[in-house]
Amino acid sequence: MPGLQKARALMASPVGSFCRLFFSQIRSCSAISVSSAKPVIAAKEPFPVDLIAEKRYAWCACGHSQKQPFCDGTHKKSAPEMSPLRFTAGESKKAWLCGCKYTKNPPYCDGTHKKDFVQKTDLHSQPQV
Ligand code: FES
Repeated sequence: MPGLQKARALMASPVGSFCRLFFSQIRSCSAISVSSAKPVIAAKEPFPVDLIAEKRYAWCACGHSQKQPFCDGTHKKSAPEMSPLRFTAGESKKAWLCGCKYTKNPPYCDGTHKKDFVQKTDLHSQPQV
């Protein structure tokens, strides 16, 4: 069976249906991952916070909240494609929560705020990264 006929037969089979569905979902996921949603820089340093064990928190991920570093619901209007990071403190402790919103270990500061792309960007703006 020539290659083109084999391909057509495969695509007409249940396996082909599954593959079409699978790859259509992959494209959908890619579209989401390349979204232009980026947080604005709320602060160029972390916020020291006294976390309480077992208390639930919502860390602002969009940078628009007026209650930094926590969510005040502003993302619903200013960044509807973004959501806060909800977390529970395992123990009562002082923590440094990210204010630049570009940490790779949210909600905690990992030092990313010291990088040029954060330091050279105006507050409440998106860096060019
Ligand atoms: S404040 Fe964002 S990494 Fe430090």
